[in-house]
Amino acid sequence: MINKGIILAGGKGTRMSPLTKAVNKQLLPIYDKPLIFYPLSILMLAKIKDILIVVNKGQLEQYKKILPNGKRLGIKLSYAEQAKPKGLPDAFILGEKFINKKNVALILGDNFFYGQYLSQKLKSCVKLKSGAKILLHKVAKPEAYGVAKIDKKNKVIGIKEKPKNFFSDLAITGLYFFDKKVSEYAKKLKPSRRGELEITDLIKKYQSLKQLKADYIGRGGAWLDTGSIDDFYKTSSFVSAIENRQGFKIACLEEIALNNRWISKKHIKESIKFYGKCNYSNYLKKLIS
Ligand code: DAU
Repeated sequence: MINKGIILAGGKGTRMSPLTKAVNKQLLPIYDKPLIFYPLSILMLAKIKDILIVVNKGQLEQYKKILPNGKRLGIKLSYAEQAKPKGLPDAFILGEKFINKKNVALILGDNFFYGQYLSQKLKSCVKLKSGAKILLHKVAKPEAYGVAKIDKKNKVIGIKEKPKNFFSDLAITGLYFFDKKVSEYAKKLKPSRRGELEITDLIKKYQSLKQLKADYIGRGGAWLDTGSIDDFYKTSSFVSAIENRQGFKIACLEEIALNNRWISKKHIKESIKFYGKCNYSNYLKKLIS
């Protein structure tokens, strides 16, 4: 069972400069909320309450303004600062104490997931006892991602990070589930040619031990990586279209916490005070009216 989760919200942010010169990418808006709300909502939907957010050195105060601690949301939030973007597996080295030899989920701070049955899928993923689990999604441009090749029995038979030549069109999404061995394996990784520790190398370790499982975000689900400015706007349009059509909000943290029975109306009122007069607060008011 997985009760702990890490959000990796640091990184260079160079692809989105000058927007990210003063503000971290994960604090920029995806339609009506900061990007960080979306990956955090995914961990909360998976019923994970103990969450570590890894941020760039010097940016902690910015994050604490919007997510000071988890109290209003009924969760426990802690932070770690990453001195340099050394690569995704660094989360398990920096977070070793937090992980405390327990199983853990990792979500990338710039990943967006949405779709029917997603909550059910998440609840099944956190049941992981040993090994690792990845979620795959078919994409038109696999060269931009880590990709996995599978055989007829859905077994992963190959993994490559951003392959130049076609290898598979199944991207490895930025949501991973690992067992308690993950920090030990991460510490043994060597930087790749681009000078980073690669998450695909960590996944390959589990594959070599025959301890890797894969599941899918199917055609009915959306997975968007908000890596570039274009992707940011596309994801914002997606959220705006769904929210305005249905009247529901995607990634309303308080709504998820209330549905999980982690908080009461009293906490929602505190959140309304915290955000002040805005559309988001109006939505919260409706939740408790
Ligand atoms: O989005 C899924 C893809 O994410 C996977 O398919 C790839 O296998 C994986 O390597 C990763 O590729 P990206 O090139 O998209 O990773 P990026 O460098 O953009 O980092 C993803 C997030 O993690 C981003 O929000 C910044 C944060 N980050 C990244 C690094 C390297 C950190 O917080 N610290 C880091 O050291």
